[in-house]
Amino acid sequence: LKSKLAIAIDGPAAAGKSTVAKIVAKKLQYIYIDTGAMYRAITHKAIINDIDLDNGEELYQLLKKTTIDLQQGAKEQKVFLDSTDVTEDIRNQMVTNKVSVVAQHGLVRKEMVKRQRELSKKRGVVMDGRDIGSHVIPDAEVKIFLIASVKERAERRHKENTKKGYPSDLKQLENEIERRDQLDTEREISPLVKASDAIEIDTTSLSIQEVSEKILEIVKRKGE
Ligand code: CDP
Ligand code: CDP
Repeated sequence: LKSKLAIAIDGPAAAGKSTVAKIVAKKLQYIYIDTGAMYRAITHKAIINDIDLDNGEELYQLLKKTTIDLQQGAKEQKVFLDSTDVTEDIRNQMVTNKVSVVAQHGLVRKEMVKRQRELSKKRGVVMDGRDIGSHVIPDAEVKIFLIASVKERAERRHKENTKKGYPSDLKQLENEIERRDQLDTEREISPLVKASDAIEIDTTSLSIQEVSEKILEIVKRKGE
């Protein structure tokens, strides 16, 4: 590639965003930024501190005095909340169920978007989330919108949980994913939406490899 690009990958829960974003970033030697992890981290801190998750102002005040660091490890990306490794904690059930409520608040989003724009300024980034192509990096050179059926997405999470030895209920996962999709799509401030210039890929019957290759093809075309 002649120059470093910004690659935005958006889509609903378990569409495969972070998995393929990591592969694409590694291949291009770009930095991967998981914006969902940032919303999860502040949600985790708010729960620990017993903050009212409906109070946007209080959450904003908390976020302002909070550092969230994403660090590239050899194998995985680690998430640090005020210097504590919370990589595992932010995936727990409680955080997963509450994160979309926290992410609805305009003040919280504004602060997150500010931090995310700062991280993407230098290009050479693959950023995944819900509003990256539509709002955070509207001038991203490559915008991808990943989708898959709810059934397929629930099955993917179910497999993931089972593999890790976590208890998992397929029907419950389907309900959770649907509820989160609804909150993310219907919220007032920068909802989950496909940017008009994003390329949609339905991954329902595609492997991780196939999706990654498709994206790398698109990047190649844009970067030449
Ligand atoms: O990986 P998974 O699909 O479970 O979700 P995530 O990417 O970790 O994001 C968790 C939640 O954070 C989403 O359901 C959204 O409510 C919120 N989020 C957001 O509002 N905007 C983003 N750019 C990224 C995540
Ligand atoms: O980041 P997001 O929530 O969009 O999804 P993810 O965490 O990257 O992917 C959810 C699960 O689906 C992971 O266990 C992936 O290995 C799996 N996956 C898949 O089976 N086929 C794909 N084409 C993409 C992801």
